[in-house]
Amino acid sequence: MFVVRRLPPTTEAQLAARYDTELNPTDETCPLERLIAAASEFDAIVPTVVDDVPAAVFAAAPLRVRIVANFGVGFDRIALDAARSRGVVVTNTPGVLTEDTADLAMMLLLAAARRASEAERELRAGEWQGWRPTHMLGTRVNGATLGIVGFGRIGAAVARRAYRGFGMRVLFVNPSDPDASAVADAAAERCDSLEALLAQADFVSLHAPARPDTRRLLDASRIDLMRPGAILVNTARGDLIDERALATALESGALAAAGLDVFEREPVVSERLLMLRNVVLLPHIGSATTSSRVAMGARVLSNLDAFFRGQAPPDRVA
Ligand code: DGY
Repeated sequence: MFVVRRLPPTTEAQLAARYDTELNPTDETCPLERLIAAASEFDAIVPTVVDDVPAAVFAAAPLRVRIVANFGVGFDRIALDAARSRGVVVTNTPGVLTEDTADLAMMLLLAAARRASEAERELRAGEWQGWRPTHMLGTRVNGATLGIVGFGRIGAAVARRAYRGFGMRVLFVNPSDPDASAVADAAAERCDSLEALLAQADFVSLHAPARPDTRRLLDASRIDLMRPGAILVNTARGDLIDERALATALESGALAAAGLDVFEREPVVSERLLMLRNVVLLPHIGSATTSSRVAMGARVLSNLDAFFRGQAPPDRVA
């Protein structure tokens, strides 16, 4: 077993107890050459959502690896076609981080609407001049319309929070038919198109996977369709937004604010976004609770255990 990055201690201990395991105590990004060599030396590789596993890894000769058990839901950095063509199984860890990621999306929505980061920065800088009727006015969340882009597990969990906790009207778009009970739980209304959703929503929250067809889903022309003063939240993947176009809309005030947990070139964040007061920036911590991360580790283990027992791994994606 080759583990690409540091994992929660309980996960590392369980992996080491069950398998002959090489861990990564330094937590440094694994060079591609090492990953290619690992594909010849180990039966399994455990990468995370930020580790590239390109086709070159599956072209290793001889190829020993038989399963890539990703720690995380998103598998956009794994060359799935190359894995399939070499008969390598790929798994992920869905379900267990839904609630924490949905909490973080709501937190970003609230923080962006109520200018929480900006206000705290002002206070910490010693610039607060006391309560004033005109100070730090934000946007009301209660009763506003939220557009959910991608009504999978996390999108549905955000919708439920928004509807039940904040009395929001929920609109959504989704390529396939969503879970009907999740739709009913949030009294969510399906829009015919992303454009129709953008034109009506006061808040837009992204929950689509990163794929070639979702790259820059929110480009300049779609950002232009958003309501004046709307707020954009992204806890999915940075690739979904054209960050330059977003910065332009935030600079001009066309959008009131944004809340971002993910970026186009992580861990690099664009200077323009860093300079803006009306964007809340978090370092990809959607699933960063001990509960989620330990549960993700347990999911990795159950996929590996099933595979090596000769059974179908529960979370197979390729
Ligand atoms: C995932 O699992 O894809 C998340 O981005 C990790 O928080």
